[in-house]
Amino acid sequence: MESLVRLKNVTVRYRSNGRRYLTAVSNVDLGVSPGEFVAVVGRSGCGKTTLLKVVAGLIKPDEGEVAYSERFFNGSKKKIGVMFQSPLLLPWRNVLENILLPIEIIGEDPANYVERALILMERTGLRGFEYSYPWELSGGMQQRVALCRALIHRPQLLLLDEPFSSLDAITREEMWVLLESVFLYENYTTLLVTHDIREAVLLSDRVVVMSGKPGRVKTEVEIPFKRPRNISLQYSKEFNEYVAKIKSMLSE
Ligand SMILES: Nc1ncnc2c1ncn2[C@@H]1O[C@H](COP(=O)(O)OP(=O)(O)OP(=O)(O)O)[C@@H](O)[C@H]1O
Ligand SMILES: [Mg+2]
Repeated sequence: MESLVRLKNVTVRYRSNGRRYLTAVSNVDLGVSPGEFVAVVGRSGCGKTTLLKVVAGLIKPDEGEVAYSERFFNGSKKKIGVMFQSPLLLPWRNVLENILLPIEIIGEDPANYVERALILMERTGLRGFEYSYPWELSGGMQQRVALCRALIHRPQLLLLDEPFSSLDAITREEMWVLLESVFLYENYTTLLVTHDIREAVLLSDRVVVMSGKPGRVKTEVEIPFKRPRNISLQYSKEFNEYVAKIKSMLSE
């Protein structure tokens, strides 16, 4: 199948301290097919965020190229939804206004998206908090708001940069379940970067394992578990075999 987005032989260098160049990622080939959930795992500093920025078009690679499928351009401005490690909500806006922010940015009328915002809030257990302010919410709730905001404009590609790493273990598991259900409902093409191997195996169709300094794709592992996946999957023998295999690849 044609990739929605494909990085071809991508190398990115940063100028560190204005003098020497640091090669953050080197010769990376990575494609994401429509409807696929791909997870990229690697140690801190191996270039995961850099790759996401290249996919989002925020960084231009020094070598190689990013190829987007024609289908990707059909959606005009509604291409990408992003979620980061911290929720980055605007404190002076209530929950509903935060969720509707991308609509204002792409220049459409937020009124046309209120119903969708309420549906997303319903699915993520946020109904009733429309008029609350971010500081009135728990960390997990704030990340759910950030997820709704990332999805409000029906992006063609969802980019997730360690979105749950600041949450406690139980809340993180709740977010995994939520993301799985959102993925099934709306069938998003998703690219997740994380250092949490369990998270990658539970959620993705394919795990891309990176090595560091400079960041390279070491290998890829297909994750065949059927969906919908349940949180209890992580206690199965097969699941833990995948986790152990990927962990050993990372530490090689
Ligand atoms: N703007 C920048 N200028 C200079 N160097 C940078 C810049 N951004 C990242 N780097 C360097 O590039 C390398 C890759 O960084 P990147 O943020 O992509 O890693 P990461 O895998 O996302 O790490 P983490 O898991 O800690 O978020 C690191 O060595 C980092 O110090
Ligand atoms: Mg990062």
